[in-house]
Amino acid sequence: MLETAELKVNGQVFQLPIIEGTENEKAIDISRLREETGYITLDNGFKNTGATKSAITFLDGEKGVLKYRGYSIEELAEKCSFIEVAYLLIYGDLPTQAQVDKFQKEINKHTLIHEDMKKFFDGFPSKSHPMGQLSSLVCSLSSFYPESLNPHQSKEEQEITIIQVLAKMTTIVSWIYKKSLGHPVIYPLNRLDYVSNFLNMTFGSPKEDYELDPIVVDALNKILILHADHEQNCSTSTVRIVGSSDCNLYASISAGISALWGPLHGGANQAVIEMLEQIKNDGGDVDKWVAKAKDKNDPFRLMGFGHRVYKNFDPRAKIIKKACDDVLAKLGIDDPVLEIAKKLEEVALNDPYFVDRKLYPNVDFYSGIIYRALGFPTDMFTVLFALGRLPGWIAQWKEMRDNKEPIGRPRQIYVGEKERVYVDLQSR
Ligand code: CMC
Repeated sequence: MLETAELKVNGQVFQLPIIEGTENEKAIDISRLREETGYITLDNGFKNTGATKSAITFLDGEKGVLKYRGYSIEELAEKCSFIEVAYLLIYGDLPTQAQVDKFQKEINKHTLIHEDMKKFFDGFPSKSHPMGQLSSLVCSLSSFYPESLNPHQSKEEQEITIIQVLAKMTTIVSWIYKKSLGHPVIYPLNRLDYVSNFLNMTFGSPKEDYELDPIVVDALNKILILHADHEQNCSTSTVRIVGSSDCNLYASISAGISALWGPLHGGANQAVIEMLEQIKNDGGDVDKWVAKAKDKNDPFRLMGFGHRVYKNFDPRAKIIKKACDDVLAKLGIDDPVLEIAKKLEEVALNDPYFVDRKLYPNVDFYSGIIYRALGFPTDMFTVLFALGRLPGWIAQWKEMRDNKEPIGRPRQIYVGEKERVYVDLQSR
């Protein structure tokens, strides 16, 4: 027999169904609560609220487990390319060689962007933040593909839109970087795979061939995989909720990019490096900065620490920390902020403030050090997070559409003024 939960309101008892997921996660189904009781639930920040049933990503924050479509993140990061993981997230299974070749070929067909898009690039001030550019440019792309605006696209039409978004994102991201340097853009090359093509467009030059370093290609594949999905976080929930109004994929992804930009979310990777630099330039006194982070009268927080769902460790941070050591050693780079990062981690992990609140380094703590080693400037870090998260956003948008989920529309408890007497402008 299915379990139920009992709720007693005003002396009346209501039975609420219990929902159980495949990993034994349990939820109380309140979808008929208001209808039956007149009450709603209140949960600021959705800390206890499930917004959907999803078959894409599972994470257990207490045990530090993260799986995409049932595969552990550790194994995927070790053995797969980013494009295989993108396929897995979007279509549900790991691709065969033939499937991944076809997927890559389809993507390569669409990597060029309309030449008129260059006028948008020209309109941005040279110092404008790459995330603002990315969000605007991805949304602008919808103007060139009006067929993507149809909320009733056939499966085939939807598939083309998905491929187009995946394909054009690498071109846009690399061109934003080129623009920041004032350098000419590099066009995509069909013979290259997704990550190599991106690196070539980013670091290539019309003056000479760019030599792809397998260490760099491998590191970027790994780091993009680690970011590829993370269930119903702030940006993914944004993508789903925007998409739930029947909004097209370009605009939904653009909204997700904006949500990711904030330093409490994806923007933390930029903020971490800036913080580490600040600590270094201030003399490297880690204890002083830990004390600042603990001081409730000081707005400073240790960036790259803490997570809404991970309360033991962030499995991505574990992989990234090792990858960081590997990449720096292989590329022969000695980054002084790495030492500060390690010291900070040690001090914080032994401090009761962080221990009691279960605050551990998250994925962003070490990712910036890798990006830096690969040659990316700090303000491009969150854009790289977005590039990695793209297949996850697409998969979640697609799942929401395929499941025909209703428009997202939370309720509220009104706490404002009640009845007020209107006073004319002249008499106020
Ligand atoms: N430094 C100092 N104190 C912290 C920190 C931190 N980084 N994070 C949380 N706390 C404290 C917070 O002050 C609160 O203390 P108290 O209970 O005494 O009021 C307690 O820990 C719980 O914090 P919270 O803000 O209620 O937790 P949350 O789940 O709402 O926020 C978070 C999670 C990630 C926004 C937060 O930990 C944070 O701001 N971290 C720094 C930013 C960061 O690294 N973000 C990247 C997250 S991982 C990438 C991604 O997927 O987005």
